[in-house]
Amino acid sequence: MKLFLLSCIITLSFAQDINPRKFPPNFLLGVANAATQIEGGWNEDGKSESIWDHFAHNFPEKIADKSNADIACDSYHKYKEDVALIKAMGLNHYRLSIAWTRVLPTGRTDNVNEAGVQYYKNVFKELRDNGIIPMVTLYHWDLPQILQEEMGGFMNESIADLFGDYARFCFETFGEDAKWWVTINEPKQVCQVGYGAGRYAPGIKSNGVGDYVCAKNLLLAHARAWHIYDEEFREKNQGKVAIVVDGSWAEPGSDNEADKAASERALHFGVGLYGNPVFNGDWPELVKQRVAERSKLEGFSESRLPAFTDEQIKYINGTSDYLALNHYSTMMASDSEAPIGQPSFDNDISARSWAKPEWTPTSQWWFYDLPWGLRKFLNWLKNTYNNPEIVITENGYVDNDDTLEDDRRIHYLRGYLSACLDAIYEDKVNLIGYTAWSIMDDWEWTGGYSSFLGMYKIDFKDPDIPRIKRKSAGYFTTIAHNRCLIDLDKCIE
Ligand SMILES: *[C@@H]1O[C@H](CO)[C@@H](O)[C@H](O)[C@H]1NC(C)=O
Ligand SMILES: *[C@@H]1O[C@H](CO)[C@@H](O)[C@H](O)[C@H]1NC(C)=O
Repeated sequence: MKLFLLSCIITLSFAQDINPRKFPPNFLLGVANAATQIEGGWNEDGKSESIWDHFAHNFPEKIADKSNADIACDSYHKYKEDVALIKAMGLNHYRLSIAWTRVLPTGRTDNVNEAGVQYYKNVFKELRDNGIIPMVTLYHWDLPQILQEEMGGFMNESIADLFGDYARFCFETFGEDAKWWVTINEPKQVCQVGYGAGRYAPGIKSNGVGDYVCAKNLLLAHARAWHIYDEEFREKNQGKVAIVVDGSWAEPGSDNEADKAASERALHFGVGLYGNPVFNGDWPELVKQRVAERSKLEGFSESRLPAFTDEQIKYINGTSDYLALNHYSTMMASDSEAPIGQPSFDNDISARSWAKPEWTPTSQWWFYDLPWGLRKFLNWLKNTYNNPEIVITENGYVDNDDTLEDDRRIHYLRGYLSACLDAIYEDKVNLIGYTAWSIMDDWEWTGGYSSFLGMYKIDFKDPDIPRIKRKSAGYFTTIAHNRCLIDLDKCIE
């Protein structure tokens, strides 16, 4: 009886703001992962060291639990088990990444690692046999360390040619298996954190300078891959290629014009730096102006944000067949003009990011369960980038607790998926897919193995590295089955 009452209350309190519509018939519903975070086998069968392998091996103090990704979830050996979990959840869609270092250990196409190629062929076959559509990321942060050392990685414009060659190799080798491609995951983290703040691999500290050089080269690399697909593979394989943009929604701190402008700055520096060139051509105007102004006051002879030539603008403009969004949280943004001095990406933005006291705290200072932020974000993307097709390529609940009773994760998923339905049906956002991060706990970069995002728990201490079902896996299975967030008999088509 007590149990019955409790479930009534829960149903009622959820029912109020949960969208009762069904997901559209072709909506892609799945889970996401990335090579470094799950595969392990970091040097097996000819794989070379990536910048993150190198970073974790040489600077363990920069990883929360001093761990590395040498074994991770051991998906290099357990991929069949992973695919079986996805199948059992009734999902039709799996986002995974290819490790550049596994297929081309020197980073270049004159040295193909057949064992690495075979691994991905096996994974694709397993997915095909189980009716699961792959979405494949070419670059999920794992640059071959040798390219970082030899030529400076993303600081060197010739990364565009090398990445293009790698992309062509993958399109040729796996193009019949994979129709959904992502070139580069979270370029903002690659550049601003990897080559600016230096907290992520490769750990280059060049704040407000190197990060912008990286951004330009990375966009040229992305565009190169897109053009190769467009010219050489599109007709035959009929696939789609996109770049990911990532970020939190930045809600204006007040109705003041200054705070609204701060919110726009946060969005255009965060997402627009990568979204605007590929969807509208060139850097966002406000970003160009601000970095130019501040660079001048700081005594630079030209803007720290390198300009694109007209030819490059044409080359990059229109090179994303859909918009891939990674989104986890929302923060408030208030105007806070940073003094002129040391160049820095954050000072260029000059927005103070803060959380409202009434928001439920989580394990992370930047992370809150606020689904309305996703809905606003989707509308902003629709309006800013001319209503593109959008796939949410990452969204999920970050916990510092590995409990199996992960009701907080269920609450988060329900709210965010409902916001997706609101965006689709109420706001006419062209949202066509959603891949949750993540199917299972993994190696979370500097968070190591102490940040939990999985619907399956991984027991990393057990040599068998078992996958253990959490409550949220059951919840997501029900959604995949019903394609609706409420009781099936109350769903609306
Ligand atoms: C950029 O890369 C090219 C080709 O890999 C190399 O020849 C050149 O020396 C690199 N430039 C720098 C500054 O490292
Ligand atoms: C980018 O392409 C669009 C569509 O063709 C065009 O309207 C826009 O002017 C281009 N942007 C730039 C900066 O050239």
